[in-house]
Amino acid sequence: MARIGVFGAGYVGLVTGACFAELGHDVVVRDVLEEKIEQLRAGQVPIYEPGLDELLAKNAERLAFTTSVAEAIDGAEVVFVAVGTPPTYSGDADLSAVWTVVDELPQGERDLVLVMKSTVPVGTGEKIRNALDQRGLTNVGYVSNPEFTAEGRAVHDFAHPDRIVIGAFDEADGDKVEALHAGIDAPIVRADVNSAEMIKLASNAFLSTRISFVNEIANVCELVGADVQKVAEGMGLDHRLGPHFLRAGIGFGGSCFPKDVSALKQLAGNSGYHFQLLSAVIEVNELQKRRVISKLQRHLGRLRGKRIALLGLAFKAGTDDTREAPSLVLASRLIAEGAAVSAWDPIVDAARLLPQAEAAESIEDAVRDADAAVIVTEWDQLRDLARPEIRDLMARPLIVDGRNLLDPAQARAVGFAYEGIGRPVSFGDVLPETPERQHELEA
Ligand code: UGA
Repeated sequence: MARIGVFGAGYVGLVTGACFAELGHDVVVRDVLEEKIEQLRAGQVPIYEPGLDELLAKNAERLAFTTSVAEAIDGAEVVFVAVGTPPTYSGDADLSAVWTVVDELPQGERDLVLVMKSTVPVGTGEKIRNALDQRGLTNVGYVSNPEFTAEGRAVHDFAHPDRIVIGAFDEADGDKVEALHAGIDAPIVRADVNSAEMIKLASNAFLSTRISFVNEIANVCELVGADVQKVAEGMGLDHRLGPHFLRAGIGFGGSCFPKDVSALKQLAGNSGYHFQLLSAVIEVNELQKRRVISKLQRHLGRLRGKRIALLGLAFKAGTDDTREAPSLVLASRLIAEGAAVSAWDPIVDAARLLPQAEAAESIEDAVRDADAAVIVTEWDQLRDLARPEIRDLMARPLIVDGRNLLDPAQARAVGFAYEGIGRPVSFGDVLPETPERQHELEA
């Protein structure tokens, strides 16, 4: 068993640390945020990730938390870098946290392997290798080992990956990292460092492309009277296409897809290639988030003075993460249109995220007197939204289902006007026009 250091106590770092401890290794997780480390030492987990609390508690003996670089590295054979690489204004990845880790590595005699978990542009490994060599740190090896865990199921994904990618300059360093994964049953892809970095970016970009593609199919389905759910089912049975990532909705969000698509596009651009397809993937996604607004307008006319309930704020179910969440775009567009917004989420603190909206304690509170309820996140708690008690609380019984979570026929049978994404709107779904609406339409 090895001694491992992990830099970064975010989603990726904590899951990586906890899972390697579960495999029997001794792990020290280091973060710059004192408060976070204190919390972790006290047994509190600063993020919501199913199964992580239990795993950290179960392996507490093999896990330590520190703010000190020296402690994280002391005795470690392998050091993972799992710090954030957020997008900059230009769309490139901000690598300052990565470089800080590299710069902080002390001079030493001992062999150490630095392993990049964070998603970085292709070519980063080569730059870091050069920087290490220039500082005389030839004893430090470098390996790219991108993570493929999805939030909300990260612990499961780590233990049951589709593949483990290891890109190394020196085969012996790659072997060391491979050995750490003993006990995980998955194909191992050994590659050069550039290709390993590209596997990660290309995988996320391709998954994003599938989502934007199916979202455009959905938009066309609405115009021609087809149902994207059926279409995706029929497409997904073709084994060359497969069923995954064909759920139409209000666009992809989160800390990975938007950032990685944009980083790959910028990387290509900076290298002299215009990656046209990715520009479209990004644009389609931005427009998709806004389509809910036109759906609401179609039913309600002008949104000024209307009351809209946003149900779900996290970028997807099973996480408290709201980075690049469609809820943020929707809330600010609605407020800009003059609507009153109430917001509910089972985990996200609505008052903190959206101070301009009214934070609701429950789904009932959120929909009370609302002119429409918008399903933004596919939380299980929303699956039975279309019930008479909810209908009776609302000023108008309109549901815009941004995740195609509900059964349209059932919702309509209860008396809701229902609109999903890429599903036919049946006659009668557009609410009867009130005198106010008539007036607005004429204005
Ligand atoms: C994603 C990848 O799935 C992971 O493999 C990868 O490791 C991770 O990014 C990363 O780079 O760190 P994650 O962002 O946690 O994981 O979430 P996903 O479950 O992949 O969902 C991403 C977005 O796509 C969400 O907004 C989701 O609602 C949306 N989505 C997903 C759809 O709109 N339709 C689909 O069919 C699937």
